[in-house]
Amino acid sequence: MTNVTRGLGLAVALALSGGAAGAQSLAGSDEYMRACASCHGLTGHGDGMLSDYLTVEVPDLTRIRARNDGVFPVLQMMHVIDGRTGLRAHGSPMPIWGDRFEATAAMRAGDLGAEIEVRGRLQALIAHLEAIQE
Ligand code: HEC
Repeated sequence: MTNVTRGLGLAVALALSGGAAGAQSLAGSDEYMRACASCHGLTGHGDGMLSDYLTVEVPDLTRIRARNDGVFPVLQMMHVIDGRTGLRAHGSPMPIWGDRFEATAAMRAGDLGAEIEVRGRLQALIAHLEAIQE
């Protein structure tokens, strides 16, 4: 890929991820419904449809801050969701979310653009998780 097309891809990715803050948290809840609710439940309480079929308990995602002494652990959340902590239920050792986000983004925006887009979507997802803390 030439520098020009790479630069263009980056500009497109930035334009795509540069929406209003409100739109970003909407995208986060959207993403959550599509990729997480089947196990963690619509409201994050760990009671999704698939939770009955898993041999490990699905954690209540509304209590993350409470379980962590009142602090919402943003960095740890990034690692859990993109697969680097190696949680078995999340498809370790392959980071399945990172992959899922990356494949389509790479087609549109090239590798570097894709990385930026994936980060943006992860951040929107984590903002959603932070918003549902009880
Ligand atoms: C296939 C079912 C399943 C799906 C889909 C799923 N999870 Fe999980 N998740 C689990 C299970 C089970 C655990 C418990 C840890 C383990 O043993 O893997 C977990 C753990 C977690 C944790 C750690 C919670 C804690 O308090 O330590 C977070 C955060 C999390 N998931 C977020 C998500 C997000 C965000 C998504 C969507 C992108 C998602 N999960 C999709 C089953 C799932």
